[in-house]
Amino acid sequence: MAELPIFGTIQKFVFMHADIKKYIDTHRERFLNELMELLRVPSVSADPKYKEEVIKAAQLTAHYLEKAGIKNVEVCETPGYPVVYGEYIKDPSLPTVLVYGHYDVQPPDPLDLWESGPFDPVIKKTEIHPQGAIFARGACDDKGQFFMHIKAVEAMIATGTLPCNVKFMIEGEEEVGSANLGWFVVHNRERLKCNTILISDTGILANDIPSICTGLRGLSYVEVEVTGPNRDLHSGLYGGAVPNPINILAKMIASLHDENNHITIPGFYDDVVELSAEERALMAQAPHSDEAFKKSIGLKNIWGEKGYTTPERTSIRPTLDVNGIWGGYTGEGAKTVIPSKAYAKISMRLVPNQNPDKITELFKKHFESIAPDCVSVVVKPHHGGDPYVSPLDSPEYQAASEAMEATFGKKPVPVRSGGSIPIVALFERELGVKSILMGFGLDSDAIHSPNEHYGLFNYFIGIETIPLFFDHYVRLVER
Ligand code: BES
Ligand code: MN
Ligand code: MN
Repeated sequence: MAELPIFGTIQKFVFMHADIKKYIDTHRERFLNELMELLRVPSVSADPKYKEEVIKAAQLTAHYLEKAGIKNVEVCETPGYPVVYGEYIKDPSLPTVLVYGHYDVQPPDPLDLWESGPFDPVIKKTEIHPQGAIFARGACDDKGQFFMHIKAVEAMIATGTLPCNVKFMIEGEEEVGSANLGWFVVHNRERLKCNTILISDTGILANDIPSICTGLRGLSYVEVEVTGPNRDLHSGLYGGAVPNPINILAKMIASLHDENNHITIPGFYDDVVELSAEERALMAQAPHSDEAFKKSIGLKNIWGEKGYTTPERTSIRPTLDVNGIWGGYTGEGAKTVIPSKAYAKISMRLVPNQNPDKITELFKKHFESIAPDCVSVVVKPHHGGDPYVSPLDSPEYQAASEAMEATFGKKPVPVRSGGSIPIVALFERELGVKSILMGFGLDSDAIHSPNEHYGLFNYFIGIETIPLFFDHYVRLVER
């Protein structure tokens, strides 16, 4: 029977979806066990004591790429931790999707707040995840999420439904700022050539409210050191007549926000792109409840920059936050001392068009200028990254939207996120390719926190959605 071409396409889609679902069902247990094996490797990139383990996670990732049927798998050396690369070139004339993810994880501290070992994955049911969730460092960020892609591609290769070429690039330094990834991208431009970049390292609003991440904030991260006297002093003998660097640092930090919680660094907002009333109205359509927000993190009241809503404060507005502050005596009991030095780590989340280097410079100038002349101040820049926004009218957005609608039964809403993935802007700059951020985590999954977890629902719906993305994407770009 001669079919209408469109009918043939839909029919093919229905068959491939059914094939993929069947494959996932058949291999469900193994898919879980393999992820658990990866989660047992403590690949903490921030701490050199885990060096061997980070490399082991790279090798295990390579092993699973190979097992999935990916070719030319390589653990590529860089000046830092290796990048795991692999590809499946079905036909060079077909489109190519590059999958990016990271196998490194955040440090597990504070250890005593974990209910089970951070590298000893266990499955437990929660209120939000009634089907169960895997608890382990990296379960959601990002091992559980990039592993979905390996399993999805395995399923597509095994069922003969992979519609295009696919490349994998899984790095091991994302959680420490991807300092060597720029080097890798520049040295592998040819190898990384692709039509789009698919990343699952973000989240959805809720398991019944699918969303697509359409923006990331940039980052400027600095460390400050304030020095008073040249040695620690008896706080009785000297107290009252010497500048205490902790008191002074606290006052300097406090002055960085005004009474409206506006940041006081001169020039800080100069390049910020203000959204139009229409854009803000569109943003406000995404479901959000301040009550639920407060409840979920145990807050008595909300806080933030005057004139903006909570979702705006966490996405389209820049921030300045102390991430850590130390100095003096913090051990058991009391020690009477005026410390010589005080320190803080400060992050600034940036929005389009702010430039991380410029902001770091503005911070440094301002921070030095507000220090009283009885102390000295050193500002040390750490890593940074550019913000990113993705268009909603691209074939990759449409493909992600249709794929999620097919699996969740609801059209996903676009949501700009507050987190940062510096490599996304770098990909655009160096490869000229946009990324689509189709992540499946929840804000409540406690990434970077004790008891990080990833829902089984999320893991498996991700594996099911990814092949549909490929299918829709290829059809949209080939039209
Ligand atoms: N996956 C996160 C970023 C993220 C999470 C974006 C959820 C959007 C939604 C990533 O691993 C991360 O933690 N990035 C760091 C930046 C990096 C330079 C250390 C961050 O945002 O703090
Ligand atoms: Mn991540
Ligand atoms: Mn992270």
